Amino acid sequence: MCFRFTVLLALLISFAAACDVDFIYNGFRSSKLSLDGIAKFTSNGLLKLTNETWRQKGQAFYPNPVNFKNSTNGSVFSFATTFVFAIISEYPNLSGHGIAFVIAPTRGLPGTLPSQFLGLFNDSNNGNAANHVVAVELDTIQSNEFADINENHVGIDINGLKSDKSFPAGYYEDGTRQFRNLTLISGQRMQVWVEYHGLEKRMDVTLAPINVPKPKTPLLSLSRDLSSILNNEMYVGFSSSTGSVLTSHYVLGWSFKINGQAQELTLSQLPKLPRLGRKKRSRFLTIGLPLILVSSVLAAVSGVAYFIRRKRKFAEVVEDWELEYGPHRFKYKDLYVATKGFKDKELVGAGGFGRVYRGVLPTSKLEIAVKRVSHESRQGMKEFVAEIVSIGRLRHRNLVQLLGYCRRKGELLLVYDYMPNGSLDKYLYDQPNVTLNWRQRFRVIKGVASGLFYLHEEWDQVVIHRDVKASNVLLDGELNGRLGDFGLARLYDHGKDPQTTRIVGTLGYLAPEHTRTGKATPLTDVFAFGAFLLEVACGRRPIQAQSPTEDVILIDWVYSCWYKGDILEAKDPKLGTDYVAEEVELVLKLGLLCSHSEPEARPTMRQCVQFLEGDIPLPEISSLTLSSGGLAFAHREGFDDFAMSYTSSIYKGFSQSSSVAESLLSGGR
Ligand SMILES: Nc1ncnc2c1ncn2[C@@H]1O[C@H](COP(=O)(O)OP(=O)(O)OP(=O)(O)O)[C@@H](O)[C@H]1O
Ligand SMILES: *[C@@H]1O[C@H](CO)[C@@H](O)[C@H](O)[C@H]1NC(C)=O
Ligand SMILES: *[C@@H]1O[C@H](CO)[C@@H](O)[C@H](O)[C@H]1NC(C)=O
Ligand SMILES: *[C@@H]1O[C@H](CO)[C@@H](O)[C@H](O)[C@H]1NC(C)=O
Ligand SMILES: *[C@@H]1O[C@H](CO)[C@@H](O)[C@H](O)[C@H]1NC(C)=O
Ligand SMILES: *[C@@H]1O[C@H](CO)[C@@H](O)[C@H](O)[C@H]1NC(C)=O
Ligand SMILES: *[C@@H]1O[C@H](CO)[C@@H](O)[C@H](O)[C@H]1NC(C)=O
Repeated sequence: MCFRFTVLLALLISFAAACDVDFIYNGFRSSKLSLDGIAKFTSNGLLKLTNETWRQKGQAFYPNPVNFKNSTNGSVFSFATTFVFAIISEYPNLSGHGIAFVIAPTRGLPGTLPSQFLGLFNDSNNGNAANHVVAVELDTIQSNEFADINENHVGIDINGLKSDKSFPAGYYEDGTRQFRNLTLISGQRMQVWVEYHGLEKRMDVTLAPINVPKPKTPLLSLSRDLSSILNNEMYVGFSSSTGSVLTSHYVLGWSFKINGQAQELTLSQLPKLPRLGRKKRSRFLTIGLPLILVSSVLAAVSGVAYFIRRKRKFAEVVEDWELEYGPHRFKYKDLYVATKGFKDKELVGAGGFGRVYRGVLPTSKLEIAVKRVSHESRQGMKEFVAEIVSIGRLRHRNLVQLLGYCRRKGELLLVYDYMPNGSLDKYLYDQPNVTLNWRQRFRVIKGVASGLFYLHEEWDQVVIHRDVKASNVLLDGELNGRLGDFGLARLYDHGKDPQTTRIVGTLGYLAPEHTRTGKATPLTDVFAFGAFLLEVACGRRPIQAQSPTEDVILIDWVYSCWYKGDILEAKDPKLGTDYVAEEVELVLKLGLLCSHSEPEARPTMRQCVQFLEGDIPLPEISSLTLSSGGLAFAHREGFDDFAMSYTSSIYKGFSQSSSVAESLLSGGR
């Protein structure tokens, strides 16, 4: 009997010894842990203590009891455990409450609370010595009621949540012994080692990132004999709880051993964490995706808007009939680029029709002048453009080359060669210091005569300039006079309200028969050329305000000088003495001749060129020639009424609408 009892005892003892608990889970695929609360295994073998829910607890315990004490003398065996965990939170700096490794007298700790209680205790038993609970908490929230040191710490709890020992999460680097912070809720996998040394009666807790081997220096070390706390048989496991932040607590692998080193986890076999925590993915879905959608829609919309704006900005009108004019048609975009967006800095002048901008063509680097003419109606546009193109074919060294055009809604852009020295008038009047000497003036005069002659007679068809005047003579780089704006003056009228249709040309340059009939002929150009000659020789405007009541009519004045027998008196005093008297006289006399009120009495441009070149002598002018034609009469009749009705400023390069001119004229007669 006794023998049998001893055998049984021996068996029991040997069984107990043989059953020193020792287990390892590299993932929990086929394990039989006992789960409580919301704890679950995921399909890939993660122990998911909590899912994304509020104020819940989740627990998992090794199903069998573990014998912690030597039944002979009641001392607690050494034990060791290690596990890998991860906490994945909705927010990067906020999470649920944490995870605890727990040694408890029961599986599942019934009646305990979630949130700050970590599923370990409740209001009534917290801190109670009868609990027989030892836990290592990985606490992610600072609960002042339990004197937590911060919201990211590791603590050893005995029978209550007020830790017996705690320290901020981190580890001492081997070698340097430097402390490295760790963030428990970073979502990174970390490994914990808990070791109780039965002989020393000391508990060590060590934490490290998954890729760092167990640091030699533990994070926490608590000297305490656990024999009064632990029962003989205890359960080991994990408890976790969520609060008001959606958090998932995962355990990836776990090993435990009584009386010895816990087996090392095989990290490569651990199950994978969800790639982005489900919360993160849903954040991506709820914030990221809409954001991406919205921004891509915005991008698309602004892209479309940009293209529409760009299209509108550079929109131009091109019709089928224009296609043959290809080489003469400019792209608006090119002109826009050339003139730097029609910047004011590039503005070189403004005339009666529009502004003129300087520019450099992007591809050819050719310097151009772009004249913007507003043009409301499409009426007559076809003829207009045909005319522009045919004028573009005119080529003469004394003409400003018209390179082409561009059409926009309500606007026409004419492209010319750029004349670096600007228009002649500013050398004659505006700048008293900068002037041209006689040689230069005479060259300009001969050039303009030659250009006008080319327009009248040397080309396939007669082109009437209609607006010869000093401000339409531009000077190129070598100070050659070049006629600008030829032929187009008439065309500007297309589409204008007939009430405001102007007689094209400029007052003071308009031949009397032109104002009367409204018809331009080569001889009306000659008349204007005459006014131009006097202008250049005298350095005065054709009609110049002398005083509020009196205007000087240049022709009258030159005539009176001539009549007195001293025509040279009329010459520009700015010329000084550096002039050729015969040439000045020739120019002044020719000016008078061309200004004859009777068109038939005026020379043609061919004759003008010949006179100026000295090929044929200027006919002797008698007072009869001029006065019989009624030079003075012409001007009185033609312009006095204007002079009465309009302030003299209007005369300065301005022109009137024909209806006004006509009514004034008829009223005057
Ligand atoms: N091809 C060009 N190169 C350089 N400057 C130019 C060119 N064309 C015109 N300009 C400048 O622009 C100014 C305005 O020219 P525009 O021909 O529009 O007016 P205008 O001849 O003075 O008056 P209107 O329009 O009544 O004939 C000129 O005075 C001249 O300074
Ligand atoms: C969390 O787990 C509980 C219990 O398994 C379940 O009822 C609940 O729907 C889960 N919640 C989420 C967000 O997965
Ligand atoms: C328990 O303690 C007794 C006496 O100190 C010792 O002889 C025995 O080996 C111990 N048992 C174990 C399993 O360590
Ligand atoms: C129990 O026995 C172990 C050795 O087996 C010894 O280390 C320990 O100190 C003993 N405990 C007590 C309370 O005597
Ligand atoms: C979390 O971080 C954000 C920015 O990093 C900060 O504005 C917020 O106050 C933090 N919240 C807490 C509870 O620390
Ligand atoms: C507190 O927890 C203990 C142990 O789990 C349990 O026995 C007790 O009933 C709980 N008390 C309350 C009030 O829930
Ligand atoms: C580590 O954390 C503590 C408090 O948590 C902080 O004072 C310290 O600056 C941190 N050190 C580093 C290197 O981040």
